[in-house]
Amino acid sequence: MRLVIGNFKMNLDNREINEYLEFFKKDKYSNVIFAPTFIYLKDFINYGFEVASQDVAFAPKGAYTGDVSVNQLKSIGVKYSIVGHSERRKYYNDSKLVNDKVKLLLENSLIPIICIGETKEERELNKTKEVLFKEIDEAFKDIDQNMLNDIIIAYEPIWSIGTGVVPTNSEIYETIKDIKDYLESNYQVKLKVLYGGSVNINCIDNLSEVENIDGYLVGGCSIKKDEFKELITRAS
Ligand code: PGA
Repeated sequence: MRLVIGNFKMNLDNREINEYLEFFKKDKYSNVIFAPTFIYLKDFINYGFEVASQDVAFAPKGAYTGDVSVNQLKSIGVKYSIVGHSERRKYYNDSKLVNDKVKLLLENSLIPIICIGETKEERELNKTKEVLFKEIDEAFKDIDQNMLNDIIIAYEPIWSIGTGVVPTNSEIYETIKDIKDYLESNYQVKLKVLYGGSVNINCIDNLSEVENIDGYLVGGCSIKKDEFKELITRAS
């Protein structure tokens, strides 16, 4: 069954979250992970849902105003954390912190969902593989071989995030194949690779035909509860 992760980003206020939870509360999913803003993680956990944080601090604890540590997440029952989302890389210069975050997560038995992706320009210049492999190498630096198996990769072409533009099935297939081949030959691991970027109910049936996708990282569609529920049904 393909994994479906809903990344709410900085959306939904308290009333909307309550409505969302009421709407989903009778559903039991083994393949769905909700990634609401930090302040709502506990609400989803209390309703029995699996959650991912949208980010995590690069340091274990201490004077880092505004940050949330791995241990704090772990202590309320969070098991996954998204790291290196392109929005974090762009607005907060996160690329240089991804490796520290991945290490801390793995050392504390949380599963990192590492986002990688190329810009339109990089794709047009035929640099996609180079960019993705570099992001993988940076994220995996100095990590014990026996810890790598737990990582999940989310391939999210930046030009597809929030734009409604989805790569062709063969583009996705080829890129995910390149990522999986690279991971196997350079790190001797077979990891789950998700696709993310404008996944919604209009393209989900078509995406199901791409054989090597292990799941989806869904942004915009995940905050529309009716559509997200339909997407989950059709993606599973
Ligand atoms: P989108 O976002 O589905 O709105 O394109 C995906 C993501 O940023 O994870």
